[in-house]
Parts: sequence; structure tokens; C-alpha cells
Amino acid sequence: MSSSPGRTRTRSRFAVLAAATLLVGSGLTVQASLPAAAAADTLRAAAAQAGLFFGVAASPGRLNATVSREFGQLTPENDMKPDTIANSSGGLQNTGNADTLVNYAQTNNMLVRGHTMVWHSQAGALQGQSQAVLNNFIGNALNRWGNRIAYWDVVNEALEDNNTGRRRNQWPHTMNRDANGDGDTFDAGDTDVIRDSFIRAKQVVQAGGLTTKLCINDYDVEGLTVQGGTPNRKANALYDIVRNYRQYIDCVGFQSHFNDNPNSIITDDLQANIQRFADLGVEVHITELDIDDDLSNNDIGAGQAANYRKVVRACLNVARCTGITVWGIADSESWRASERGLLFTGGNGNYQKKAAYTAVLDELNKGRGTSPSNPPSNPPSNPPSNEPSNPPSNPPSDPPTSTPPNPAGCTATVSLNSWTGGFVATVRVTAGSAPVSGWSVGMTLPSGATVTNAWNTNRSGNSGAVQFTNVGHNGRIAAGQSAEFGFQGTGSAGSLTPTCTATA
Ligand code: XIL
Repeated sequence: MSSSPGRTRTRSRFAVLAAATLLVGSGLTVQASLPAAAAADTLRAAAAQAGLFFGVAASPGRLNATVSREFGQLTPENDMKPDTIANSSGGLQNTGNADTLVNYAQTNNMLVRGHTMVWHSQAGALQGQSQAVLNNFIGNALNRWGNRIAYWDVVNEALEDNNTGRRRNQWPHTMNRDANGDGDTFDAGDTDVIRDSFIRAKQVVQAGGLTTKLCINDYDVEGLTVQGGTPNRKANALYDIVRNYRQYIDCVGFQSHFNDNPNSIITDDLQANIQRFADLGVEVHITELDIDDDLSNNDIGAGQAANYRKVVRACLNVARCTGITVWGIADSESWRASERGLLFTGGNGNYQKKAAYTAVLDELNKGRGTSPSNPPSNPPSNPPSNEPSNPPSNPPSDPPTSTPPNPAGCTATVSLNSWTGGFVATVRVTAGSAPVSGWSVGMTLPSGATVTNAWNTNRSGNSGAVQFTNVGHNGRIAAGQSAEFGFQGTGSAGSLTPTCTATA
């Protein structure tokens, strides 16, 4: 949903040992075997048990007991935007409210998401300034709070409305675009404010030894499709940006202001879209969640609580979806109060839980998914999005390589996204003509390549011959169906030839 003018707008628990992969905050990956936990009675505790954060947007005037009790993460709703904290040379000013929020989060053991640096709206004194000024601001903002900020939205809302798949055409996206003077909208030779802002941010993070993760955030990018099954070109354009500039981008935010706008509804392929970004190796976050209660019509789907459940489940079912943030506490205090899109009624610290709250808590308490209601599918082929398909700093994805068809056992296919010095591999395991109850995929990495991280699999070895086996939830595959796992590595993956062995 836009801030732009003119837009309309039972508990079941798995009594099993759960293998949890925590990717939240501070750059650490922690793998642990946890006993099934008792149901938690706050959103933050239930989310933490499932290995993600559940947060809220707030300003200093809203910091009451509900915030620290229910939420494990805080996003300043307005107090870290350039119109508050930036001067015209990219220096900082008026950081008092931002400091108050960061201090509160630290005292209450909450993560902070910095929001936001490079944005067409609420740009204040940065409006119309150069990349050099933006770079100065990026450095100042990152260094001001350092590791007290776990995630920063470096670029916000870079893409145009109405599912065009194009970038916006107002500042800052106009900056030096057509550097080669060929008069086109955008090509790989042009200066790119998105790329250059992320390059600057990454340099600052590396120079300071920070663990802060750098995110790109947008709205109407949540589904693979929009209403009516039309491909979501805006989501595809964002995907191209993240893939092309993967070496600078650590995380992707889906704002998730869901409402009756045809491009802002909750589609059944939300989870598959989260999954395809996660497969690039980035963390995915639901960053500004509110869901129109839709009393007027049902375009968005019936029932606010059910809709909340759907969104939370889609995130829980993707291991790299590591956080959900609602855009305010109570309906009356929301930026879109008339949509009654949040989890509480009441106001001024005196809040009542809605049915949507209970649904979210219950869904979080069920934990990470074992049987997605909407299994990940292959993304539709992307229509042209005006994104450079072949940027200079990043070679295109390599074509998949696969083992020959295997009538009974299983086959494995590897898709690679590579960049200078690293890669992410997505491996699809497909059962043959009979179901399998477990699988093992082997492949030999070229010398110099090392696996640094893997998800939805157990692995033995990090270099040379590496073996990947199923985890609890993806061993069983019906005949002809598939499961996916992934891993990230340093060095060059070359062309990988997987072998697949199945357990009947
Ligand atoms: C909104 C705030 O909630 C409002 O208080 C403010 O008046 C306008 O901005 N996308 C974003 C957020 O990234 O920063 C916006 O927040 C909502 C849309």
C-alpha cells in the first residue's frame, strides 16, 4: 500500500523435537535442537520460539507496556526518516526521538529496524540532492547507531505503482540514470541510485565491522501474482534487483499493507514468492503489516483474522522469513485507521485484543511449517521489468544442471545464482515414479568453493565432496513431486552435477 497521494485505496502443537534455525539479528546463524515448547502467551515469545521476531512500528509517544510485552522488534514509524534526521548535506539532526526508540528497544531486548534512508517520500532536506549527499547520509545513519540497529531499510519504495514493473520516475530515481546518453529508461551502463546506495552502505558496514543487515523494502510485491492471476511485475522487478545486487543486499521487506486495491490483496502464492526471494539467500521480512478488515466488500478475502493467519503461516513456512512487523498497535492509532487493520482496539496504552491477535498468536504457536498449504512453486517467467539483465558487477544465473531421469528413486536439479566471490544454490529434489521417504544428494564442489550456510537440509562436509540429506519435514516426497533445499557458499560453484539417492 502506498503513502503516495492518489492511491486508494485449538491450539495444535507439534509434540516433536524441532530443529530450529535462527537467523535473527546480529548476523549469527544458530542451529539448535529444541524440545517442543509450551504455547507462549505473547506474540514476541511465540515468535521467538518459532525462530523469528514479531515487531511493531511506533513513535516515542506510544511506548507503553504493551509494546515491550508483545513485541520483540521495533521500527520507528517516522522518527528515522530523512525529513526528521537529515540535513541538506547528509549530516544528522534531530535524532532525539530516534535515540529514545533505540534506547527503549535496547532496554527491552528488542531488535531495531532502521527506517529508512533512500526514499522518494518524507525525504526532507535530502530531496533533490546528489548521490554524494545520499552516501554521506547513509554513512552517518549507519555509524550513528551501529549494531544497535539489526536491519536498515537502505532503499524504500523504488518501484512504480500499478504493476508496471518499472522504477519510479521521480527523485531519487532520476539521478544520473542515463549516464551513457542513449535516451533509454534504464540500462546496465547507467548510474543506478539503488546499486550505488547499497554499495555505499555495504562499504560502511564492512569498514566498521558492523553486523547490521541492509534491506530493500517495497509494497505490492508480496505475491507472485496480483488480483486475477496477472503476474506481479513489481515483485519480479524487485526480484531482479535483489538478484543482480545480491552481494550488497542482505534482506528484503514486503511491506504488506493488504487492502482491496487489486495489486494489494493477499494471493495464494504469497508463500511461493517469499520462498523465491529466500532462495536467493536473503532474509525476508513482512515489514509493515496491516490488513484491511474489509467490512465493505470481500475482494481481499473473508475475515481479517483468517487473513492474518494466512500471512503469518506463509512466513513461518519459509525458514528465511525471519520477522514480521505490524504497522502500529491499535486500529485507532494506525496511519490507516479507517481500515481497522491492526491487532488491537482501544488506544493510549489501553488496548483490547482483537480476533486477529488471537489468530496470529495461535499460528505462531504452531511453529515453522511442515506441510505448507501453498507449496512453493516455480516462479512464473518474468516479463520484462526494465531491470538490467546483465549488470556489469554480476553475471547472469547459470543454467540448471541435473542428473539424468531416474524412474524410481529421485533426481536433483541445481540452480545457481552467482556473484563475484560467492553463490547461492537452490536444489530441487524430485521423486521418480514411486514415493520416497528420505533422500541424499551428493555433489563435488570445485576447489576454492566452501559452503557457509545451508537450509532445509543436513549436510556433511563444506568443501570437495559434500552430502546433503533431508530434514524432518521434507524427506517424504510423493511420486513425481519435489522438495527444495539450498545452500550458500564462497568462491565459485562452477557447474555442479548432483547425484540423488532415495530411501523408499
Ligand atoms: C507512514 C506513517 O505510518 C505515517 O505516520 C506517515 O504520515 C506516512 O508514512 N510505507 C512506508 C512507511 O515505508 O514509512 C509509511 O509510514 C507507510 C507506507
